[in-house]
Amino acid sequence: MPEKPDEMVVTPWRVEGEIDYEKLIRQFGTQPIGEEILEKFRRYTGGLHYQLRRRIFFSHRDLDWIFRKLEEGEKFVLYTGRGPSGPVHLGHIVPWIFTKHLQDSFQAKLYFQLTDDEKYLYHEEFSLEFTTRTAYDNALDLIALGFKPELTRIIVDAVHIEALYHLAIKVAKHITGSTIKAVFGLKDSDNIGLTFFPAVQAVPCFLESVVQGRNVPCLIPAAIDQDPYWRVTRDVAPKLGFYKPAQIHSRFMPGLGRGGKMSASQPETCIFLTDPPGEARRKIMNAFTGGQPTAEEQRRLGGNPEICSVYQYYAFIFEEDDGKLREIWENCRSGAVLCGDCKLKLADRVAGFLERHQEKREQMRDRLEEFLFSEEERKLIWSRGLPKP
Ligand code: TRP
Repeated sequence: MPEKPDEMVVTPWRVEGEIDYEKLIRQFGTQPIGEEILEKFRRYTGGLHYQLRRRIFFSHRDLDWIFRKLEEGEKFVLYTGRGPSGPVHLGHIVPWIFTKHLQDSFQAKLYFQLTDDEKYLYHEEFSLEFTTRTAYDNALDLIALGFKPELTRIIVDAVHIEALYHLAIKVAKHITGSTIKAVFGLKDSDNIGLTFFPAVQAVPCFLESVVQGRNVPCLIPAAIDQDPYWRVTRDVAPKLGFYKPAQIHSRFMPGLGRGGKMSASQPETCIFLTDPPGEARRKIMNAFTGGQPTAEEQRRLGGNPEICSVYQYYAFIFEEDDGKLREIWENCRSGAVLCGDCKLKLADRVAGFLERHQEKREQMRDRLEEFLFSEEERKLIWSRGLPKP
């Protein structure tokens, strides 16, 4: 538990308290996304994705370098992932939406890692069978978002390990136990799998370089809590002759409760992609808003969208048009629209999204194979990575 109730804690396994993103940039030593970077995006993608306009992606490492390499004719590969600990919720797909935008805009190949190993090791109560099964199930939510099969490779760690292992041990050889303890806050009583695991999460940064037999820049779009992994990976990369992976970091989508991010451990505060649409509606109608206690006060004083979880849902996913988002904000401030109506409108959008998503998800079941690492590819990577006897 954090010392004070509101103290900010951001680690790969825990995000708590009031998040101060400026402070995170300082603490983690990353760069804010400034005008120069935005200009590059405008140039390459013919506009700015709403997540950049709203600074939902707000920080980076070496993104300027990624664009420099691109200008020199070196295309980047994308890498992101998910720990399969349960069903996917809306907060998880925020960086995936942006990753798909990058795949489409740059025709970039994506490695997507499902860490059934990590979640098995971390959660006492989970069996490996459960996390691996969940990995395949979560993969359906990813591909239902419209990623391109020819440009996507989904890795299920415990299943596809032969393609990863030689790189994992090479990474591991350059990381000491005390580094992992310090960076991840592990204790001596934690199992040794957790100490080794960061080497496995580093591997996809380098896979495309092994496949192509030359260095390929790698860009990781992910929520900022994953940053400790990349700090360690970036230290090791040059020792193995690889480029350091670059990152672009997103904020956390707030939950439907008062403050705090969407968290699967508090199911009322988040909407799972597999929630029946009616269930999602109910959660939204019960959400915490920035509204006044009575309709009369709301009309007279206006609401406070700044602290409103419903407003954040529009901003993060459900209203891409800036003009319309501003209208929602102004109608709230002026008291013109009451919370009930604002929630109803959001509930309709979310329910519609879930219906379409769930249909797509079912359709994709038969096509999952096309997105997974094939045995052939795994063998190829394995044989390229091994030193010749
Ligand atoms: N450790 C991540 C999690 O628990 C999963 C993950 C693996 C990941 N590789 C990644 C997340 C790359 C973002 C980017 O969710």
